[in-house]
Amino acid sequence: MIMKSSVPAVALIALVVSRVQAFVSVGVSGNTHVTITDHAVMAKIQEVCEAVAKSEGREFDPMGSSPEELLHACLGTATGEVSGAKFRTALNQIYMQNGFVDRDFMGSAPHHFNNEAFIEGRNLIIQGTAAIKANVRTDNLQSARETLGRVCHTLQDFYSHSNWVELGNKSPYANLIRPDLNIENIAGVAMPTCSDCISGACPNQLLPAILSGKFLTSGYMGLFSPNKPKGKCSHGGETDLSSKQNPRGGISKDERLSYNANLHNNAVNLASEATLELLEDIRGAIGNKDYLRLMGITRSAVLAFVIDTTGSMAKEIAEAKRVAFKIIDSKKGTQDEPSEYILVPFNDPVFGPLIRTTDPNEMKLEIAMLEAKGGGDLPEMCLSGLQLALTGAPSSSQIYVFTDAPPKDIYLENIITALIRSTKSTVSFFMTTYSRRRRALKAGPNFQAYYDMALASGGQAIQVSKSSISQATDIIVDTSTSALVTILQRSRDPGRVESFSFLLDESVSNTTIYITGSSLTFNLHSPTGVSQSNTVANGPLGTIQKVGNLQRIQLNETEMGLWHIDMTTSQSYTIKVIGQSAITFIYDFVEEFKGPHSGYAVIDGRPSAGSPAKLLLTLTGEKGPEALEVHEVALMEVSGVKVSNGTIEKMGGGDFLVTVKDVPEGEFVILLKGKDKTFSSLFQRQTTTLMSQSKVTVKAIADSSMLPGEEFKLNFTVTTNGSSGTYTIHARSDKNITVAHTPTLSLVSGGSAQGTVSLTPPADTVSGTDVTLTIEAEGPGGSDSNYAVLRLSVLSKVTDLTPPKCEIFDIQGTCYSSSCSSSNWELSVNITDNNGTGIESISIQQGSGNLTQKEVEDGVMGLYEASCCSTSVTLSAVDKVGNVGRCSYTMKSSAGSRLISMSLPLWASLLLYSFLRESFTL
Ligand SMILES: *[C@@H]1O[C@H](CO)[C@@H](O)[C@H](O)[C@H]1NC(C)=O
Ligand SMILES: *[C@@H]1O[C@H](CO)[C@@H](O)[C@H](O)[C@H]1NC(C)=O
Ligand SMILES: *[C@@H]1O[C@H](CO)[C@@H](O)[C@H](O)[C@H]1NC(C)=O
Ligand SMILES: *[C@@H]1O[C@H](CO)[C@@H](O)[C@H](O)[C@H]1NC(C)=O
Ligand SMILES: *[C@@H]1O[C@H](CO)[C@@H](O)[C@H](O)[C@H]1NC(C)=O
Ligand SMILES: *[C@@H]1O[C@H](CO)[C@@H](O)[C@H](O)[C@H]1NC(C)=O
Ligand SMILES: *[C@@H]1O[C@H](CO)[C@@H](O)[C@H](O)[C@H]1NC(C)=O
Repeated sequence: MIMKSSVPAVALIALVVSRVQAFVSVGVSGNTHVTITDHAVMAKIQEVCEAVAKSEGREFDPMGSSPEELLHACLGTATGEVSGAKFRTALNQIYMQNGFVDRDFMGSAPHHFNNEAFIEGRNLIIQGTAAIKANVRTDNLQSARETLGRVCHTLQDFYSHSNWVELGNKSPYANLIRPDLNIENIAGVAMPTCSDCISGACPNQLLPAILSGKFLTSGYMGLFSPNKPKGKCSHGGETDLSSKQNPRGGISKDERLSYNANLHNNAVNLASEATLELLEDIRGAIGNKDYLRLMGITRSAVLAFVIDTTGSMAKEIAEAKRVAFKIIDSKKGTQDEPSEYILVPFNDPVFGPLIRTTDPNEMKLEIAMLEAKGGGDLPEMCLSGLQLALTGAPSSSQIYVFTDAPPKDIYLENIITALIRSTKSTVSFFMTTYSRRRRALKAGPNFQAYYDMALASGGQAIQVSKSSISQATDIIVDTSTSALVTILQRSRDPGRVESFSFLLDESVSNTTIYITGSSLTFNLHSPTGVSQSNTVANGPLGTIQKVGNLQRIQLNETEMGLWHIDMTTSQSYTIKVIGQSAITFIYDFVEEFKGPHSGYAVIDGRPSAGSPAKLLLTLTGEKGPEALEVHEVALMEVSGVKVSNGTIEKMGGGDFLVTVKDVPEGEFVILLKGKDKTFSSLFQRQTTTLMSQSKVTVKAIADSSMLPGEEFKLNFTVTTNGSSGTYTIHARSDKNITVAHTPTLSLVSGGSAQGTVSLTPPADTVSGTDVTLTIEAEGPGGSDSNYAVLRLSVLSKVTDLTPPKCEIFDIQGTCYSSSCSSSNWELSVNITDNNGTGIESISIQQGSGNLTQKEVEDGVMGLYEASCCSTSVTLSAVDKVGNVGRCSYTMKSSAGSRLISMSLPLWASLLLYSFLRESFTL
């Protein structure tokens, strides 16, 4: 397989293939890590969605084959728009990391099963899988996805780089994902494995003794040196220097070439099957519901509050509670119902903890328990609380901060900005003041940090009096929706006379305009020429609600076409137009990397100044991306006027590579214009996170998880094309973990330097805990800076390697195909986890019956009862570290009616019973 990936999503394959066309025979569709992973991921989602739908007694019937239609069908019939953005984001988190393995671990043999590093490679898979399960258990889904992407890569490489295929195996090697089984029969260090291949293109170089002895071996990869142990196979290919050493050639099946087409195909098939088995194992450990959340199949809305709980905040807390209850109660059962709730209280000097739940009742309880006390009208730990919310919420969340005081922890400002850029979340602030103090409505210098962060994230900074806070919170209801899109956002300081236009398309509903600033005058014009000025609260176009520095204009109806808003004010202001629509896009800035498997990788921090900006866009719409066209992608200054067009390369599957040569100097966002072919309607969308280029880069790679109580060291490299001098390093984690780091680095322009960060998670850290580490490098005099954001997991050493045992010991009932609904059957199982960590949970993975469990001395006894209309069942038993044991059973229906069958003599029933026992699969 062209294991050359590194580019996300289904269709980037097209890109990869086009890059290497010279090496691939024409007409061959490429098999990359991304395609293999994508096919397996999609197939498993389909299977799990079907099982869930069945168990809930509803239909599962996607309208088409696009991911969006799969998502829609999987979420069920709840009303409301469904946006594919979160789903696509989750998939990209998996696929991107899969590709990163070729960049970040290019020379690491275990990551690719090169150099016969079987034990180490399998360890990466076993440890990685344990980490995924632990991360899901602690609800750290992004880490789990990223690890899954990397584990898939290594697992798939086994089939391409080892001789498993040549040994004639027809199924995946289960021992790679079974912690309780070891890799067997690895060729000895001194055992020659390959014969010489002068042409470099031989179908089978493996020595007969290796094949007949069933010895496992893999190719040696010489990226930097041609040396390899005597007689050993090479990986092969241009970049493998060892392939010129006797035995020459190579056994890699990465690409389909004329001499190895069959081997390549078999490797691809086995890699696909192995990926499915890995996904099945994870599904068994975490259950169907969490499995779908892991895959991004979830309602999009997330409700995230960061609340100041000092003594003066009683009114605001009550209002936050009112709004949360309103959203929870009014959106229940719709697509707009939040799928996750996040609450972070902060005070002085304490903050947190982060409360994260999918249960609306728990959110209600937690928010009802908040109490205003302590502190005062003094600065508080706002940014510390916000940092927890940014790292704990899924990316692209809407986060609302309630406070009446400036931040005491202003030293976190740069870290917060880095996290906003990295997570693409939007932060809005409700800054309350005592009205009797008559503070100027314009930002007092104290609140300036909040204004800056709101702008950087595309959120609103709303300053209102405590008594009118309840009029300002409609904005939370507006944005708690599953398909929120931004159509326009601009900022002006100072203001000037200017007209902004924005295009509303057929798919947009509930359009709302927010304008913040004081003493604002404006005029709104519809496409058909109707106007409404800011002085008319209830006009022909909509209703204007004014509170504090915010004006909220709700359009009566979303008339399609080009709207204008004329601003006539010299005061500073921001303007934002949002709506609801399934048409949207996600993006990442990327850079090209070279190596044996070159490709594109997501940039962690700000893109590099001095070179064209490259971004990968994924377009999504209700009927999938095929129903949409992209006409224009540009980088647009939010506070300026510069717009830089990009060149667009279509890659299929909704993916586009965009290159912008002339990048704006200031902070910019991405503007996309296109056409919805279904309605022949032109649309426009904009991102909200401000981005800019930097001459500094910070690169850091974490190649393993952390152990509780043990120091973890990490190297990072800072490079600059900017000023020479002393660069100041800031490194912080979002958890209460001491971070020690190189304080400064001395750099010359064009050069780089390496530093170290070390952190020691406390010994009692729960396995699966996520730590977000932000490393920032700031140039001399604060001139320029950049950052890297890493998600690290704390994982206890896994010592329980054996899965629970599930034994079926009794089946009762008889099913007749003619009248399934009138008969039932039952199955009894004994589940034990001797020597293990104990049984954590038992669940029905497939089947719509009922399971009752009883704890017994050495395990759990389960009784599964089902109607004869649902004849198969899979139960999975999971121990405390996520090892999965399963039992499956299919009840055979006998033909004929109940009456006739009832007259079966006893000996016949016994025969039937013993026949059924044969079909147990354990
Ligand atoms: C969107 O508009 C529809 C109809 O105008 C309304 O029923 C619905 O509540 C609105 N949704 C939101 C989130 O405001
Ligand atoms: C919009 O709403 C306002 C106030 O509810 C109303 O007076 C006006 O007629 C409406 N306009 C349209 C076009 O529906
Ligand atoms: C950008 O591209 C669009 C569409 O191709 C074109 O209409 C517009 O004039 C271009 N703008 C600039 C500044 O080149
Ligand atoms: C960090 O870099 C130093 C010096 O280059 C090296 O010796 C060390 O192994 C590296 N540590 C890690 C964790 O990569
Ligand atoms: C952070 O950790 C230190 C030492 O482990 C402890 O003393 C302190 O109370 C912790 N702080 C919080 C807010 O948990
Ligand atoms: C199942 O467990 C029960 C209770 O521990 C025990 O009596 C029974 O013998 C077990 N059956 C099998 C088949 O192991
Ligand atoms: C439990 O562990 C011991 C020692 O490792 C081993 O001898 C025994 O067979 C194990 N029992 C089971 C049921 O796995």
